[in-house]
Amino acid sequence: MNNPLRSPLDQRLPRIAGPCSLVLFGVTGDLARKKVMPAIYDLANRGFLPPGFSLVGFARRDWEDEDFAQVVHDAVKEHARTPFREETWKQLSEGIRFVTGDLGDAAAYTELKRVVADLDEKRGTGGNHAFYLSIPPGLFPVVLEHLKESGLAEDKPDAWRRVVIEKPFGHDLKSAQELNDLVGTVFDTGSVFRIDHYLGKETVQNIMAVRFANAMFEPLWNSNFVDNVQITMAEDIGIGGRAGYYDGIGAARDVIQNHLLQLLALTAMEEPLNFNAAEVRAEKEKVLSAVRLPKDLAAHTARGQYAKGWQGGIPVIGYLEEEGINPNSHTETFAAMRVDIDNRRWAGVPFYLRTGKRLGRRVTEVAVIFKRAPHLPFMEDAVQELGNNALVFRIQPDEGITVRFGSKVPDTSQIEVRDVTMDFQYGETFVESSPEAYERLILDVLIGDPPLFPRHVEVELGWKILDPVLDFWSSQGQPDQYVSGGWGPHSQYDMVARDGRTWRRP
Ligand code: BG6
Repeated sequence: MNNPLRSPLDQRLPRIAGPCSLVLFGVTGDLARKKVMPAIYDLANRGFLPPGFSLVGFARRDWEDEDFAQVVHDAVKEHARTPFREETWKQLSEGIRFVTGDLGDAAAYTELKRVVADLDEKRGTGGNHAFYLSIPPGLFPVVLEHLKESGLAEDKPDAWRRVVIEKPFGHDLKSAQELNDLVGTVFDTGSVFRIDHYLGKETVQNIMAVRFANAMFEPLWNSNFVDNVQITMAEDIGIGGRAGYYDGIGAARDVIQNHLLQLLALTAMEEPLNFNAAEVRAEKEKVLSAVRLPKDLAAHTARGQYAKGWQGGIPVIGYLEEEGINPNSHTETFAAMRVDIDNRRWAGVPFYLRTGKRLGRRVTEVAVIFKRAPHLPFMEDAVQELGNNALVFRIQPDEGITVRFGSKVPDTSQIEVRDVTMDFQYGETFVESSPEAYERLILDVLIGDPPLFPRHVEVELGWKILDPVLDFWSSQGQPDQYVSGGWGPHSQYDMVARDGRTWRRP
């Protein structure tokens, strides 16, 4: 089995997908166009797909194979990470097919079955098929049912069937359980790949590498030395054309339930025995089970909605004015909360999570803020500018790690200590640019390598943590408004100030 973090020796072994095809539902969506199609091309370009790899689009469009190939071509040209090469495109496009049909039309699935069987025969895809559901969750049941009815989902002894599901995995704990039960009636557990694209990011996998490959961090990684942990995911964009998806979902369901809780799990979990899926997932599940919400949710959570403002020198409208949004919507576009982790390692260390749209800058980071030194043998003046030490995983966009510590200021008559930073930057250290999260994850699906995909237990634990906060907010009326282009509602500062802390400026 391949592991996300392998020894240097293993890394030399090629990870190339075997014969297979991928059936993509939702080919006209943003995600398919901006992420999935370009990632498939990038994988082909890097030599990770087998020569006969085939991509089948399924949608209610009156398209021929060539029309769909043109859509993929345009998406690749616009969004692929690696350069466009005619020979890669030629090989990939020979395996592109399109099936016209409504998601609920049984005849279309019969045609799909014929098309994949034909690919098996003509392009040697070996009966191995991945079904990628890049569609709104409300449509999962109908597609799953037809995949089952048509026999497309049926496992064969010498061939695999896998299903890839995009978030949101449910709307709350109950619906997540229902969704999981439903998927379980069609695919066996090992064939279900839930995508949380944050887990495909190099910088996110690096949290485990840094923690568990080094001697100098882990001894400090506990309540004796850590004061608090701050996980921030700030976006400068608004909801764009996603009103239909976003309204009624909001920031907490959209990214805290999944991406931010995954970051928390990787930062706080115990060392796994190895990096096999079962071990990594077990440790994440253990720590997520220990997460506790504060009793007073009014004091320890914050939410907001973006009002009009300026973004990059351009005036932007507020959330309630966005097309397709209910002008009385209570959906939050900013969410923050404190959680604690009830175990020996983290007792008394708050984990602060926050995310928001239309904030000052796009930045995601995990900041581990250390306690002050127990004694400072300096004049008070000398350490006035000294803050807490910090280790910051810069997840994006400026990928790297920052360590902040105090250092003597040169050329002063008296000793003066001030915060300085030591930076590791991916861009400067490694020659090759990091693969996109979707490249990594799609390749893992095709290879059948599951450690980076959350199991349903993780998903359900996420909802268990979040549901009480969402229930509480739903009784609280309109969220605070915050100006677009700023850093979110004031209540987030009050929230940490109650604990005697401040947010780090990302
Ligand atoms: C998605 C959310 O999961 O992540 C979006 O649905 C968000 O609302 C996106 O914009 C952010 O992803 P990234 O990789 O740009 O941080």
